[in-house]
Amino acid sequence: MRPASIDQVQEVLGAQGYVCGRALATVVFLGLRLGRPLFLEGEAGTGKTEIAKALAAALGRRLIRLQCYEGLDASSAVYEWNFAAQMMAIRTAEAEGSADKDVLRAELFGPDYLIERPLLQAMRPDPAGPPVLLIDELDRTDEPFEAFLLEALSDFQVTIPELGRSARPSRPSSS
Ligand SMILES: Nc1ncnc2c1ncn2[C@@H]1O[C@H](COP(=O)(O)OP(=O)(O)OP(=O)(O)O)[C@@H](O)[C@H]1O
Ligand SMILES: [Mg+2]
Repeated sequence: MRPASIDQVQEVLGAQGYVCGRALATVVFLGLRLGRPLFLEGEAGTGKTEIAKALAAALGRRLIRLQCYEGLDASSAVYEWNFAAQMMAIRTAEAEGSADKDVLRAELFGPDYLIERPLLQAMRPDPAGPPVLLIDELDRTDEPFEAFLLEALSDFQVTIPELGRSARPSRPSSS
C-alpha cells in the first residue's frame, strides 16, 4: 500500500505503535510520493531506526538494513565475490581436467558466486514492491563512503563490471 495522505501516514504508523508527529509524517509522505530518501538526524532513542521498521511493516515491504561502521566500504555495502567458492570451483575443474579457461571465467563471475550486500539487494526488483532500505548510523562512516552513497542513492544504480551489466533497480522506498 501507499499512503494517500499525510493523515494516513500518521494512521498506519500509529497502527504499528509508532508515534509520528505531523512534521515527520509530512516528510515521510513526500519521500514516498517523490521516491526520495529520507535523512533523519536527532538525539539517541528518538525513533530514527524504529521508523524504518514501522514503515516497512505498515507498507508490507521488506526491510533491508545497512548498518554503517567506521571502515565500511563499497564492497561490503553492495556486493562481493565468493572467493572461497570460486577457489573450490577452480580446484575441482583442475582436478577433473575440464578447465576450459573462458567457460570457467564466465561461470566464476556469474550470479552463482555473487554475494549480494544490502544496497544491491535493495535495488533488485521485488514483486512485493520496493523494500524499505534503512542505512543506519550513517555518521560512523568516512567521507569516501559518504560520497559513494550519495552517488548510489542519487541514481539508484550500481554497475557490476564482471557481469557486464548494471543492476537497474526499482527505486527502494525511503529511510
Ligand atoms: N516515535 C516513537 N514511537 C514509538 N516508539 C518509539 C518512538 N521513538 C522511539 N521509540 C522507542 O524507543 C526505542 C529506541 O528508538 P530508536 O532505536 O529508533 O532510536 P534511534 O533514534 O535510532 O537512536 P540512536 O541514535 O541511539 O540509534 C525504540 O525501540 C522504540 O521502542
Ligand atoms: Mg538508531
